Amino acid sequence: MNSLKVLLIIAGAGLASAIAIKPRDEGEGYSDYFRGLNDELKANGPFKPSMLVDLDRLDRNIQALKATLVENYRIVVKSLPSPGLLSYIMEKAGTNRLMVFHQPFVSHMAETFPQSDMLIGKPLPVRSAKIFYERFSGASGFDPSVQLQWLIDTKERLDEYQTLAAKLGTKMRINVEIDVGLHRGGLQNPTDLIPLVDQILADPEHLEFAGLMGYDPHVVKVPRIIKSPQKAYEQSQFLYQGFRDILKDKYPRIDHSTLCLNGAGSPTLNLHKQGTVANDISAGSCLVKPTDFDVPTLEEFMPASFIATPVLKKLDGTNLPSAEALKGIFSLWDPNRQQTYFIYGGKWMANYESPAGLRDNSLYGYSTNQQMVNGSFRTALEVNDHIFLRPHQSEFVFLQLEDLLAIRDGKVVDHWPILKQSA
Ligand SMILES: Cc1ncc(COP(=O)(O)O)c(C=O)c1O
Repeated sequence: MNSLKVLLIIAGAGLASAIAIKPRDEGEGYSDYFRGLNDELKANGPFKPSMLVDLDRLDRNIQALKATLVENYRIVVKSLPSPGLLSYIMEKAGTNRLMVFHQPFVSHMAETFPQSDMLIGKPLPVRSAKIFYERFSGASGFDPSVQLQWLIDTKERLDEYQTLAAKLGTKMRINVEIDVGLHRGGLQNPTDLIPLVDQILADPEHLEFAGLMGYDPHVVKVPRIIKSPQKAYEQSQFLYQGFRDILKDKYPRIDHSTLCLNGAGSPTLNLHKQGTVANDISAGSCLVKPTDFDVPTLEEFMPASFIATPVLKKLDGTNLPSAEALKGIFSLWDPNRQQTYFIYGGKWMANYESPAGLRDNSLYGYSTNQQMVNGSFRTALEVNDHIFLRPHQSEFVFLQLEDLLAIRDGKVVDHWPILKQSA
């Protein structure tokens, strides 16, 4: 073979592999659903980054949730952090139970929902509890000694809460965190309950034993090759049962029917349906279904929340500082770089949802003020159109936006403020 032939073969192979790895055009226009939302926002939107909650989809998710529930439902406030949204769900799901994780939200909920029954979802520093009582006016009618359960994980924390209750001259209801396999703290062994419950029962003026909390999301996260979710669920239930048994054996005189035995979380709702030791089931995220909750156990739930943000600028190609000569090359190689959009805000924990095929540009970098977004000609956005993103999680991403726009039948029907971290 002469050297020309060899060269031609090498060039041909190079070309073939370049064609094989050349990115294909993934751009598409809006789906009908998002085209409708874009039209609505262009007519009635606030033209700033907003969180949309589709009430029709939310209603379907509430129905799906109700279909899985065998026990009382408790709404996880951090995953749905807007009083308007919470009030909507409380009514539709028929519950006044809330799980709260942040001191300012505890204060806010006590004022906004005086009929609520609140369980704290993580053991808060005793100083947080102190701040709650200092700020609490009682004007709303909420009675913490009846309607609020503080979460305790150790003897030291129980001592601190007991001292605070004595100083304030009040009674605190105590729920005990147990470890049912997540290994994020809480009591490890059922016998660890005894000294805590003894201490609580010995001081009825300041303490009352309210129940147990055993959160179990690990059940669906254990790699299937190690353990099936069903097996992991059975093991976590077995652990929970051990704690419940010891309570029954050692404390026959307490009223077990009134104890709050909290469990679950969105990912395991469907598993609790088959029967559960818990009598109080908490979940939140499944109702708006961010991408982290795209798990097989939540297949019946639909994404119901999206970030919408306007396109501020539309530019041809991808023009990077000090690489102007390459402007045409980027889009020649990757059709998904044919168009540059700068959007209002950015860098959220979220995936581009519509139009399809949008992407960040890591060479240009990221901005929370004006994010560069690339897409092919087929994305066909114009200035003042909206880009839609699907959050990875609701609990933090919601808090980054000011307003929640409630959508019914494709139209904006309400504006609900989102809680502020310092609420
Ligand atoms: C104690 C506890 N219970 C329940 C949940 C479930 O919340 P979600 O349904 O939003 O995942 C969480 C979430 O972090 C949690 O920490």
